[in-house]
Amino acid sequence: MPAWDAEQYLKFERERTQPSRDLVGRIDVPHARRVVDLGCGPGNSTAVLRARWPSAETIGVDSSAEMLDRARASDPSVTWVQADLRSWTPTGPVDVVLSNAVLQWVPDHASVMPRIVRWLAPEGAFAAQMPANVDAPYQLAADRVRRRAPWSELGSSALPSFGVESRGFYYDLLAPLTSRIELWDTEYVHVMPGPEAIVAWTAGTGLRPWLATLPGDDARQRFLREYAIELEDAYPRQHDGRRLFPFLRRFLLAYR
Ligand SMILES: C[S@@+](CC[C@H](N)C(=O)[O-])C[C@H]1O[C@@H](n2cnc3c(N)ncnc32)[C@H](O)[C@@H]1O
Repeated sequence: MPAWDAEQYLKFERERTQPSRDLVGRIDVPHARRVVDLGCGPGNSTAVLRARWPSAETIGVDSSAEMLDRARASDPSVTWVQADLRSWTPTGPVDVVLSNAVLQWVPDHASVMPRIVRWLAPEGAFAAQMPANVDAPYQLAADRVRRRAPWSELGSSALPSFGVESRGFYYDLLAPLTSRIELWDTEYVHVMPGPEAIVAWTAGTGLRPWLATLPGDDARQRFLREYAIELEDAYPRQHDGRRLFPFLRRFLLAYR
């Protein structure tokens, strides 16, 4: 099972790209010469940057070869770079760094974020969005199933942590390094056809590293079926049979 599967991730392309549209729409940088999409994935958030600053040099950075294959096919005019964002450095000042739905995978924001902010040109912006759903019903339901037999034996107990800090943490971290900071949370309410769609959503992102520790596809499919049953009650049925799936996202926008 590869670390990322662009096809599965893009099953919810509209929902997954909306936060980068909302975030890029708020960036107050009228002219940009160089923009970077850090953790560009399949290129969906990069396309939002391209549309906003079409004449800027655009660089997409991601550690996943699978995601970058898809990104390259989407836009050959972008410079696509396979690298870990913790060690990659741009060759010159950057006007906008976007990191949409990425930094929750990266530990130690206290050192990662100041490093990014130092790349910025004067009046440049660092714009990040991270899901903030530690206690959401879909996470708690996954935990309940993982703790039961046979999953507690079959899957790894060393789960990756999803490090999203408080708004106050980001303010204290970045205020000394920047001239202006905006912080906000938005809860998107996705209308899903049923629990299986919520399973497909999480299997395309947060649950992936744990699913990869299960021994084979059969076990993964059995786990996902059990998980779907657990979600039945967590997301009640609406009159038309659909489910409302609230998803909280934390936004941060800091200007040099
Ligand atoms: C959920 S996707 C986000 C894709 C896209 N930015 C979007 O807005 O939909 C997260 C991406 O972050 C990348 N990623 C995670 N950790 C990374 C790291 N340390 N360095 C570079 N990319 C990383 C993954 O490979 C994946 O493509």
